[in-house]
Amino acid sequence: MRDATPQTVYLKDYTPPEYLIDSVELDFDLDAQHTQVNSRLTMRRNPESAAAGVSLVLTGEELELISIQLDGNPLTESDFTINLETMTIQQVPQQRAFVISIENRINPKANTALEGLYLSSSMLCTQCEAQGFRKITWFLDRPDVMTRFKTTLSADKTQYPVLLSNGNKIGHGDLANNRHWVSWEDPFAKPCYLFALVAGQLECVSDSFTTMSGREIALEIFVEQHNVDKCAHAMQSLKNAMRWDEDSYGLEYDLDLYMIVAVDHFNMGAMENKGLNVFNTKFVLARPDTATDSDYEHIEGVIGHEYFHNWSGNRVTCRDWFQLSLKEGFTVFRDQQFTGDRTSQAVKRIQDVNALRTRQFAEDASPLAHPIRPEAYIEINNFYTLTVYEKGAEVVRMLQTLLGAEGFRKGCDLYFQRHDGQAVTCEDFVNAMEAANGVELSQFRRWYSQAGTPVLTVSQHYDADAQQLHLTIQQSCPPTPHQPDKAPLHIPVKLGLLAADGSPATFVINGQQQTDITLNLTEAEQSFVFDELAEKPVLSLLRGFSAPVNLNMPRSLEELAFLFKHDSDTFNRWEAGQQLVVQVIFGLIEDLHNHLPLHLNALVVEAFHSLLNAEADDLSYQALLLTLPDESYLAGQMTVIDVDAIHHAREFVKTTLAHALEDDFNRVYLIHHRDESGKFDADAIGRRRLKNACLSYLSQLESSDSYTLILAQFEQAHNMTDQMAALSVIVNSQHPAKASCLDKFYQQWQQEALVIDKWFALQASSYMPNTFATVQALMQHPAFDMKTPNRVRALIGAFSQANPVHFHAKDGEGYRFLADQVLALNTLNPQIASRMVTSLAQWRRYDKGRQKLMKQQLQRIVMTEQLSKDVYEIASKSLA
Ligand code: PHE
Ligand code: ZN
Repeated sequence: MRDATPQTVYLKDYTPPEYLIDSVELDFDLDAQHTQVNSRLTMRRNPESAAAGVSLVLTGEELELISIQLDGNPLTESDFTINLETMTIQQVPQQRAFVISIENRINPKANTALEGLYLSSSMLCTQCEAQGFRKITWFLDRPDVMTRFKTTLSADKTQYPVLLSNGNKIGHGDLANNRHWVSWEDPFAKPCYLFALVAGQLECVSDSFTTMSGREIALEIFVEQHNVDKCAHAMQSLKNAMRWDEDSYGLEYDLDLYMIVAVDHFNMGAMENKGLNVFNTKFVLARPDTATDSDYEHIEGVIGHEYFHNWSGNRVTCRDWFQLSLKEGFTVFRDQQFTGDRTSQAVKRIQDVNALRTRQFAEDASPLAHPIRPEAYIEINNFYTLTVYEKGAEVVRMLQTLLGAEGFRKGCDLYFQRHDGQAVTCEDFVNAMEAANGVELSQFRRWYSQAGTPVLTVSQHYDADAQQLHLTIQQSCPPTPHQPDKAPLHIPVKLGLLAADGSPATFVINGQQQTDITLNLTEAEQSFVFDELAEKPVLSLLRGFSAPVNLNMPRSLEELAFLFKHDSDTFNRWEAGQQLVVQVIFGLIEDLHNHLPLHLNALVVEAFHSLLNAEADDLSYQALLLTLPDESYLAGQMTVIDVDAIHHAREFVKTTLAHALEDDFNRVYLIHHRDESGKFDADAIGRRRLKNACLSYLSQLESSDSYTLILAQFEQAHNMTDQMAALSVIVNSQHPAKASCLDKFYQQWQQEALVIDKWFALQASSYMPNTFATVQALMQHPAFDMKTPNRVRALIGAFSQANPVHFHAKDGEGYRFLADQVLALNTLNPQIASRMVTSLAQWRRYDKGRQKLMKQQLQRIVMTEQLSKDVYEIASKSLA
């Protein structure tokens, strides 16, 4: 907790560590409330450090010291000092290696922040990234200090039969009083943020994988007994990921054992600890009746992500936490490619861009905007952001676009070859890309240091006499905190042209004939000429979303409808449909503001009509084409966000389409509705997506026919995708069976925590009246628990992040409620608390009345005594 204004840490202040830790031996005497940690650090001065002085500063927080020795000699009170975050030893040897031995005590059960060693249900586990190791023992807790770890765990045999840590098991045995011990050794030097231990009554699901060089790796997934039947998909995903990384990057696994442990209490998605990943149960457990198709895909994606970190993160790690995007942006990019290969590249790209534009663009447009490589932080946990992860992945993707797939791979090979076993920077990554390709990327580097979403303003002119298309693109970037002016970026802009019949148009540029091209935008304004165009083409710009930018390009509804039908670029075809509906919705919002009656433009009905009657091979893609833009995406496009008008206009479009195309929706629903539960191939998943998209339209009718259809699906579903789809439309309608369905669902699933999370989230994000009262009542529900992050996210997170209409209720009750919960969480779990504050950061985007109410709650939070650094940083920056 905070006692003074928290310190800011700056990238520019980085200096190499003064000391190194060559090896560490850790002994844990485990107990839920009194764990003793004995550590033996073999250290020496870092020859690379220029700092003078003979003292040694170790990091440590919330630790109880038992004893400390230097080279076997006990230190006394005058030899060292301890404060809230460090221990300083006055004098250590400078010319030779020395050994620091420390004994200290910690209390895992009291640890509700879930950093360091904590208790999750009945198991003990650790979370050390970013700076949790300092809550275990005193150490040099920084990623550029890499150490070989040997760990011995001892514990009660009945309560903790399974004892795990990183690397290979090197010994075990029994002790007196029903206790036992297990020793582990990790042959790879690693930063302490990759350390992990787990102890508990765990079942092991095992399998094996043979690597490309013929080594056999044991694969083990550890879960509580009642979850053994939900591990098959995670195991298959792991094998898929291991094969994929060999095929796509030539990267092989290094240890002989790969372990994954699923825990109920986890602040994030999962953690890539060396050889011992710790996962949120949400990203491991799946059975057809408990997990949706999207859950299945997310599990494979996250398993892949953590596995890929073994190279992009562990073998080559970060020099300091400002470089976080080095491992996260790159690894997200890798997991996106993996999921695309496993499912559908078109669908995956659309999902990723959709998430980026609704969520990361909002962050970039808020007081919390920061570059993918931030320059300062108060609490590093606050920088595990959409910007560092998702925009970071876009920056890596742009490198791939600029260098081509082969050039990019050469750059990756060189990066891993040069830096294996090192802690490096984003600069090193770009250097490797340059060196491997003989190119110069100095302007491209600005993507690492400039925040904000660039805007491309596009104008075009067709010269019929010259048979030329003239294209002018201007780039600009709005100011962000501490960055009023921006320099032009190097932006790859992919494009193609369409002929009047919808086929690709051939053009000549730079003397070359092409059908598509990637333009290199490097200046504030640039013009391009496309020759030999006998007729006026239709421009398909920013194909595949080749750069994370906003487009400002006037386009007629006719042109958008044309692209929606014909564009051969799957991303831009979807995008045309989205922009068509966006323009129509903004027209309707204007009509609402002018108290005019609403009419839906016939072009939209026609576009959806032909879509519903067209042949499709990728049904998941087809379902996306049918899905209207999210309310939060629409909000992001408005100068002053009007949540009610957005909701009203979007509902109007959906309902009007449902009435106009009822027969089509019914027909397509029936074609694809069949019982194939347990089938997870692309076809079965696509059928469910398309059918459920139709169901969602049909539910708008609120007719007895649609009610019957929906209820039948709810009652007959044998898979969670169909059951949830039905329940979700029921909850968001006036369906007479709503209460009984919710009740039935709860009774059916009360033993499955992850399904009950869905039950909470669904109700918290409902548009129906009285939702706020429901949310308040659910806070008192016996299954609600403030100490379980998944539950908090399901109820408080869903309400504040996925329910714009009710969270932003005019009376400010939503804001007050959120601030109450933030303050309650502040003491329990600062990381989760500070995540929850971010929905208030957007306050400047709303009308004056709401601005005032949101600001009031932020001020109330900042004024609170004993605020954690995490919450303080987000709340104070939001107000700045
Ligand atoms: N490094 C983890 C990942 O991206 C995320 C994480 C960060 C988990 C901090 C826990 C704590 O895979
Ligand atoms: Zn990661």
